[in-house]
Amino acid sequence: MKHLLSTRDLSAASALRLLDVAEEMSAVGEREIKKLPALRGRTVVNLFFEDSTRTRISFEAAAKRLSADVINFVAKGSSVSKGESLKDTAQTLEAMSADAVVIRHPASGAPARLAASDWIDAAVINAGDGTHEHPTQALLDAFTLRRHWARIGGNASPGTTLAGMKVLIVGDVLHSRVARSNVWLLTTLGAEVLLAGPPTLMPVGVGAWPCTVFYDLDVAIAQRPDAVMMLRLQAERMNAAFFPSTREYSRRWGFDDGRLALLDIMGLDDTVIMHPGPMNRGLEISAAAADSPRSTILAQVRNGVSVRMAALYLLLSGDTHDDDQHDDEPQ
Ligand code: CP
Repeated sequence: MKHLLSTRDLSAASALRLLDVAEEMSAVGEREIKKLPALRGRTVVNLFFEDSTRTRISFEAAAKRLSADVINFVAKGSSVSKGESLKDTAQTLEAMSADAVVIRHPASGAPARLAASDWIDAAVINAGDGTHEHPTQALLDAFTLRRHWARIGGNASPGTTLAGMKVLIVGDVLHSRVARSNVWLLTTLGAEVLLAGPPTLMPVGVGAWPCTVFYDLDVAIAQRPDAVMMLRLQAERMNAAFFPSTREYSRRWGFDDGRLALLDIMGLDDTVIMHPGPMNRGLEISAAAADSPRSTILAQVRNGVSVRMAALYLLLSGDTHDDDQHDDEPQ
């Protein structure tokens, strides 16, 4: 694997390998080991054309824990604002001997364009492109779910899948790269995926996705999911005319205090509540739900560092465990 561009083309073997390596990486930082020398002398560039808190910081922490040098490039304040193209920006990074480029871009397909080009030799990691994919977010979500599943089932051995698990993804699926990456990855790992959201925020063609779609959140919750993943309502990607009433959205699609209590009433003691962040508290998720013992939101952030360490390590160490995501094929 030379690049990590999507989960759609990631095999179960590759995904499980990454999750197993992430388990090993989680020891770094959690225990006395603060750093591994694995990527000493290598350079990781964080190339962010869109805002980020969690992804950018955790890639930086991950690279530093592997002893790599890190260059942070944020489009705001760079020569991109003077009209510099992705090609010229990439070639500038190449001249600085980047070994890996972690790219977030508003255009779906920008990371694949970079990976397929001859502008750079570096490994390319998609840190979120438009409404297309956010593969490391899905991998950290799967890592979090696998740990939760292991706690319930008592099976934490390497290679364990998510077979038997039911995951409900709720909200603005239309604009969500997190939803797309999770649908592909979770189903590859054997989980059953349910989607719930308003018809206006479901993508055309969602009926062909490997999941069941609900247009009533309470009917979806009645399916007794093991995890409920709330999505951020992405106002910045919506025409104001299509932005739903926040009160109506919260009532119909928010994980509010009533739905939090419903999990207890239904005896769903082991059901967790997830959110990739950043959250609109009081809109798609209530403060009580976000801060409840069921919430995995901070665990997801913590696990993101281990998962990104695993991704950087596997790509830069030349691990050739799998044959998917060929370096010459746009994903
Ligand atoms: N989940 C996520 O991608 O968060 P950031 O936008 O803060 O990176």
